[in-house]
Amino acid sequence: MASIHDLITSIASVTSLKELASIEQQLFGRKSGLITVALKELKDLPPKEKKEKAVAFNMQKRKAQELLEEKHTALERDYFAKHGQDTLDVTLSLPLKEYGHLHLIPEYIEEIKDVFGRMGFDVADGPEIETEETNFDLLNFPDDHPARDAQGIFYLAPTTSNTKNTKPLLRAHTSPVQIHYMKQHKPPFRMICPGKVYRKDADATHSPVFHQFEALMVDTHISLAHMKGVMEAAMRELISENLEFRWRTGYFPFVKPGLEVDVRWQGDKETKEGKWLEIVGCGMVHPNVLQNGGIDPNQWQGFAFGFGIERMLMIRHQIPDIRMFYEGDPRFLRQF
Ligand code: DAH
Repeated sequence: MASIHDLITSIASVTSLKELASIEQQLFGRKSGLITVALKELKDLPPKEKKEKAVAFNMQKRKAQELLEEKHTALERDYFAKHGQDTLDVTLSLPLKEYGHLHLIPEYIEEIKDVFGRMGFDVADGPEIETEETNFDLLNFPDDHPARDAQGIFYLAPTTSNTKNTKPLLRAHTSPVQIHYMKQHKPPFRMICPGKVYRKDADATHSPVFHQFEALMVDTHISLAHMKGVMEAAMRELISENLEFRWRTGYFPFVKPGLEVDVRWQGDKETKEGKWLEIVGCGMVHPNVLQNGGIDPNQWQGFAFGFGIERMLMIRHQIPDIRMFYEGDPRFLRQF
């Protein structure tokens, strides 16, 4: 077995930190390091010898520590000279960190709120479970209107009473929020309300759950011209500056007159010139509806519109199928 002296001498020729650590261990290891043991054994010697040996061992100890430290520094210096002080390799390709982000629908809703916020519109909210009364009656739908049909509407199991007006359903549009808002606010006001709506419908341009946003503006002297101005500004900002669209008359029981807007859509690649996609219904609020909301139609007028949010996004990004919004495919989601 190597002596303390041999070990100390061998430090000079060490070429790696690993080797150096091994020598350090053999000299100073807590249990069987040669110097550790030698110093421990001193206590059993007669006083005179103890003193002499203590001096000698302590000198060896200090020498060993010095040489170990020097060598350690030298080896480290060599290592950094070879590999660079900063061992960060910027050319190394590491897996990219992926950060989550909002889905494009809620992200777009924020943009909608922003655009209308700048035009002075308040943001309102309403329940997704409505009653037949708020979804239809108070919006001036006649009793026999086909839109009430259970084939298109998700009716829920009635709770307590089974009277027609309180029959619960998943709202089929955001228009009932007009009623809630009118009952809670005094005109003049302007509001938008984004949210989910439900219909029994499913194909490339229809989904059983989708998003709309409603707008309602009530004031004195409101006309269709105001409505068209607001809508056109919003469409150009939210869809495209060069939007190609057309106004059409449309019928909705809660407005009079009623209009619809179709936009040229290139998402359907089958036809080169694209096709017209309806994205919004609108009109002047029907006097009966104002009245149902507790507003005097002789004093106030208003306009209302309801946009299909997915349809707007389909046109803006040329998304060919509404179902892509809900599939959660990262190849689709990462694009937005
Ligand atoms: N609620 C209608 C629908 O879902 C859209 C609509 C049409 C909303 C005309 C309105 C409006 O506010 O005035 O088809």
